[in-house]
Amino acid sequence: MDGTGFEAGKTLEALPHDSAFAHVSGEARYADDMPEPPGMVHLALGLSTVARGRILSADLSAVRAAPGVLHVLTAEDVPGINDTGPVVHDEPAFALSETGESAEIMFHGQCLFAVVATSREAARLAARLARIDYEAAEPILTIDDAVAAGSFLSEPYRMARGDARAAIEAAPMRAKGRIEIGGQEHFYLEGQVAVATPEEGGALHVLSSTQHPSEVQAVIAHNLCLPSSMVTVEVRRMGGGFGGKETQGNLIALAAALAARITGKPAKLRLDRDDDMILTGKRHPFRIDYEAGFDAEGRILGVRFEQWANCGWSADLSAAIADRAMFHADNAYFYPAAEIVSHRCRTNLCSMTAFRGFGGPQGVLGAERLIAHVAAETGLDPLEVRRRNFYAPMGAMPTRSLTPYGMMVEDCVIEEIVEELAESADYAGRRMEIAAWNEASPVLKRGIALSPVKFGISFTTTHLNQAGALVLVYQDGSVLLNHGGTEMGQGLYRKVQQVAAAEFGLDPERVRISATRTDKVPNTSATAASSGSDMNGMAVKKACEEIKARIAAHLGAGFAIFDKGRIVWQGGETTWEAAVKSAYFARVSLAATGFYATPKLAWDRATVSGRPFYYFAYGAAVTEALVDSLTGEYRLLRADILHDVGRSLNPAIDLGQVEGGYIQGVGWLTTEELDWDAKGRLRTHAPSTYKIPTAGDRPERMSVRLWAKGENRELTIRRSKAVGEPPLMLGISAFLAIEEAASAAAGAWTPLDAPATPERVLMALP
Ligand code: MTE
Ligand code: MOS
Repeated sequence: MDGTGFEAGKTLEALPHDSAFAHVSGEARYADDMPEPPGMVHLALGLSTVARGRILSADLSAVRAAPGVLHVLTAEDVPGINDTGPVVHDEPAFALSETGESAEIMFHGQCLFAVVATSREAARLAARLARIDYEAAEPILTIDDAVAAGSFLSEPYRMARGDARAAIEAAPMRAKGRIEIGGQEHFYLEGQVAVATPEEGGALHVLSSTQHPSEVQAVIAHNLCLPSSMVTVEVRRMGGGFGGKETQGNLIALAAALAARITGKPAKLRLDRDDDMILTGKRHPFRIDYEAGFDAEGRILGVRFEQWANCGWSADLSAAIADRAMFHADNAYFYPAAEIVSHRCRTNLCSMTAFRGFGGPQGVLGAERLIAHVAAETGLDPLEVRRRNFYAPMGAMPTRSLTPYGMMVEDCVIEEIVEELAESADYAGRRMEIAAWNEASPVLKRGIALSPVKFGISFTTTHLNQAGALVLVYQDGSVLLNHGGTEMGQGLYRKVQQVAAAEFGLDPERVRISATRTDKVPNTSATAASSGSDMNGMAVKKACEEIKARIAAHLGAGFAIFDKGRIVWQGGETTWEAAVKSAYFARVSLAATGFYATPKLAWDRATVSGRPFYYFAYGAAVTEALVDSLTGEYRLLRADILHDVGRSLNPAIDLGQVEGGYIQGVGWLTTEELDWDAKGRLRTHAPSTYKIPTAGDRPERMSVRLWAKGENRELTIRRSKAVGEPPLMLGISAFLAIEEAASAAAGAWTPLDAPATPERVLMALP
């Protein structure tokens, strides 16, 4: 026993998602499905129609006079700070002030005011009746615009090891290039929504579709001048978050809370899909300039990356996201000398935010572009170049283990995973077969690519790596579980339920999972950075251990085994139910809190040193694509994935995460294209113009496997590994496969920008 509950070879059961049946039958309740109490009021937001400028005058009389309108919320109505910024307070909740000075307009779609009305329709209709005169200025939209205007959120940040310039200079071969990378809309199926209900004594209860209930609580408290103890935020589930509900729900929940406070009635705000897409943040568009020196064997000797992030109008989480892009500029590769510089551009677009991978995917794509370029220059198979640059395997001499940010990679298993996958997917054989096939096919061309991923697990803001839980055992032996993690479809509740059930030796059905509430577990971090199960699982385990220890002591046992509903110790045996009952009569507490802080972390951003990650997750994918060189259209023919989740907490859920992550990554790099016009208006604000992958876009053959040898060398919960974000980067193999096919059509390496839409593929061809 090593204290992690891990027994060799044992994963937990592949149970379906706890709400799987409720999801498909429609019984799963989301915030908007809760029965509406009588008298509920509804909100709609009034949005800016220019991207940059000042409000000269505002006439809201028609809004106020519209049928059903009860109130119009502007900056004056906020008793507190009128700000929803999560890290930096640079996001006015309501930009419009009717008596003082309005805030500067920072993007098209910025929230100016909110209408409170008797129905949602009435509120939405009224919101359009505002007459606002602006003094519009030329918006800063692109990275080029920001550079020209000197518009940045902060100074550049730099990570370096060795003298990269000198190493590149001295190398026998060199490559230099640039990749432009588009953003991505989260397209959670359930949009942003909040329902606020006034409670006794000025308290508020808020149902919010958020990954971060504690922050929604804090934002409401700061804006309404309430102590946090007066605000309870609850979330049973989200219909998808993907990072888009880490901070982007703040304004929605605040508006509803303010309306509830002012009207004394329950208040609901559910954004219309178009408004949701226009108003809320997305994945950061990036530009990455790179330069590398290498030898004829494809061994990288020195690299420089210059990363440019389009952060949009406010700070939001951009600093941490741009940092994570830097932390992943190496992907799985050892760079003997490296310099990574990051520029955070401030533009007049929605505020770019967290999105599955949190900047990591952009950094990894930069690394993979570099590898493709080295392969093109040396004439080597790109997989061979990858192999020659991997970090040293776990257990080997750590001469090739140091990252550009000074942390040692001690758990590298990428070589083993890649070899196993290359073998099972017959990468080499198919690559030869494809080359021959392409020779004989003048119009249609195929391409194949294998790409690895190494992803750092932990919040790089060290203090966020903490979690709490509350476990309640009732007299009948049933268990109720609370923890700080939120459920967004990723299966966290089920996994944590299984952890508790395994601890108590009970059937998972005996353990009820309840909604996440700030009045049960306080001061939680966002469910993000893929660390939900790692941290909440551990916190729950600790609470369970506490209760078990009390029961064991009550039974007079030094050590007891809890298994299959029974408790066994030296000198006795009883059932869980009997033990719980007798502990109760003996006045033993059957409730406990648990708390977990991830060990070993020590990252110091100021000195660019320390250890930002507890461990790394690894995986690899091989994708084959078929491109029509006359139209640029393509199909994905086959995908083979092998991913390391350590000892799985639930293999069914993990497979779903890997498959879904891959497809979401494919969408990002292929068909999902955001288009803002010259006035900064998002033109792709509905599924009619923004194309996410559908079932028909799935590779025709798809095999997803969890790595059988997976096991976390660190003492994580049951030796599992986080799985939420890493697989998204496996989608890069599809992008590279399309690039390979396009290159075959062009007769020379043809690097693509992302997303590689059919139009972009066609334009890249000669
Ligand atoms: N899976 C589903 N079905 N829905 C989601 O919203 N979000 C992803 C990932 N998988 C998401 C998902 C993101 S961005 C993160 S950070 C993790 O889940 C968060 O959950 P975890 O920490 O419990 O893995
Ligand atoms: Mo995930 S982007 O960390 O919410």
